[in-house]
Amino acid sequence: MDINKLQRFNSTYDGDYPFLKELGATWAATRPLEGLRILHNIPLTRETMLKLEPLYLAGADVTVTHLDLPGLKPKQECVELLCDAGADVEIDHSRIRGEYDIGLDCCAQIPSMDNVTVRRGYVELTQSGTPVYSQLDTSLPVYSLDVSKLKCLEGMFGTGEACVRAVKQFIEPALNGRKFIVFGYGKVGRGITRYLSHEGAEITVVDANETYLDHAVAAGHAAIKNTDTRSVLDAINASFAVITATGHPGLIGEMFSPSDIRNDVHLINMGADDEYGDAFPATRVVANKAPLNFMLDAPTIMFFIDPIFMAHNRCCEHILNGGASGFSALPAALDMPVVEAWSRRYAIDISDIFY
Ligand SMILES: NC(=O)c1ccc[n+]([C@@H]2O[C@H](COP(=O)([O-])OP(=O)(O)OC[C@H]3O[C@@H](n4cnc5c(N)ncnc54)[C@H](O)[C@@H]3O)[C@@H](O)[C@H]2O)c1
Repeated sequence: MDINKLQRFNSTYDGDYPFLKELGATWAATRPLEGLRILHNIPLTRETMLKLEPLYLAGADVTVTHLDLPGLKPKQECVELLCDAGADVEIDHSRIRGEYDIGLDCCAQIPSMDNVTVRRGYVELTQSGTPVYSQLDTSLPVYSLDVSKLKCLEGMFGTGEACVRAVKQFIEPALNGRKFIVFGYGKVGRGITRYLSHEGAEITVVDANETYLDHAVAAGHAAIKNTDTRSVLDAINASFAVITATGHPGLIGEMFSPSDIRNDVHLINMGADDEYGDAFPATRVVANKAPLNFMLDAPTIMFFIDPIFMAHNRCCEHILNGGASGFSALPAALDMPVVEAWSRRYAIDISDIFY
């Protein structure tokens, strides 16, 4: 692997990523992952290239693949650059085989790769994969970035901003007074409503959690319990768009059939899985059901995701140092200290993450 080619490519990146830069500088000096075989499965984007650089600088032997989701293609220029630099790249999961030390994963896809064995541990990036890893029958260390406050920086701030940017770019630039139904008032849903509110949109939140519905009302939104399907459907049919962010695959299809919903209501998925289900054809959902922000050149602005990518990489050190046995939260040393450093650096009020 010619690291110089990757570094030249990354040097043209227009965005701030101090946490990964610092990690790269430290790891280039200490080489803590020398010879370690890593399988890297997250969406292959321009930002992912910045995350890969410290892994190579640390001496890791990385196989790069791409999150396998309908409608989600890897960035071609990134695939080409990595191949040209001699990196081991395999986009087709069924063709990946062999033994790896660590799986750096997203949506728990590595444990279901038939020909892959992971010997030392896994690190999951997102909410959707967390239930699978929490049930995985293994004594290897398994860290979930989703079980942390750190993940809120991406989920609440970065994804919310990106979702609204994508709605304005691909659907409608003027959102003032438009009605949105947001399914899920967790990290991602709260971020989306925060940024939709800045645009003057009217928001109704649907959630299964009564406390979260109270939070939505306190924040000035309408709120409906998910089990009140009649009211939910009426609200959908009076809305401009529905946005799903629950992490529950097939949720809308379990509640309604496509013909229940007016054709001019925009259906948007922000979850990592298809939250509409098979009854809804891909063409009925914006971006063919892919998380809408992944249609953007920058699916999440780098400075929101930089500390999360850094922590995902740094979990490798915790695994090498023995790690926890089985599933656990992000190590504490990588959580609040990083959140506080990020908040200080960008002077962003993070009080919303404590709910
Ligand atoms: N598009 C992106 O860039 C991006 C970024 C981060 C996470 N995600 C994905 O977004 C989804 C949500 O992630 P999160 O971190 O906000 O999760 P979360 O667990 O913080 O929140 C999920 C919310 O959905 C609610 N919910 C669950 N089942 C429900 C149901 N049947 N009906 C109504 N509400 C229900 C929960 O009560 C909770 O409030 C996941 O699929 C995650 O992987 C996407």
